[in-house]
Amino acid sequence: MTCRLVVLVSGNGSNLQALLDASASGQLSADVVAVVSNKADAFGLTRASNAGIATDVVERHDKAEARADFDRRLANTVARHQPQLVVLAGWMRLLTSAFLDRFPVINLHPALPGQFPGTHAIDRAFDAWQQNQTDRSGVMVHWVPDDGVDNGPVIATTEVPFVEHDTLESFEKRMHEAEHALLVDAVNLVVAENSLETTGQ
Ligand code: GAR
Repeated sequence: MTCRLVVLVSGNGSNLQALLDASASGQLSADVVAVVSNKADAFGLTRASNAGIATDVVERHDKAEARADFDRRLANTVARHQPQLVVLAGWMRLLTSAFLDRFPVINLHPALPGQFPGTHAIDRAFDAWQQNQTDRSGVMVHWVPDDGVDNGPVIATTEVPFVEHDTLESFEKRMHEAEHALLVDAVNLVVAENSLETTGQ
């Protein structure tokens, strides 16, 4: 059986769509068995439903809920889908060991290792280019061993150079294209290197 993936999303889900499309065309050596979001209105949930994939929403009860308590509820929901790998694809919430100790987790981030952790990484890279501080950015997929922000052992990267007359829109489009391709490649790499395709449940 193929590797069981659960994908966590917080918004649009274009990277989830890249996984779903690759799966449908036989280019992903894994099955997306569920999509879980911390936002009930995340468009990624609609993308999942359209593909016939199970969805769950785990929202914070209230602002007083401890991070670890939320993470335990999230982990319990994710665990019901028996994932062999959890993919953070536009998941915009830090996870603690209450979640990370339960599953192998990888994260996609639109910057090269060590650059622009956190939100709005694409905009910040563009600003840095405009100020002549850099001539390239890129995208990466890394393991998530702890609650560091967009930081962990790197699985794969793609550089995305700036080009003459780039606008934020043109740069952003290339970054998204790069991450859609990289995420599929990185999942296939992780599945192959960890023999996850042969241990399906
Ligand atoms: C993507 O650019 C992803 O790399 C980024 O959020 C976007 C989600 O887009 N993730 C982070 O910034 C994580 N720190 P999507 O919802 O269309 O896939």
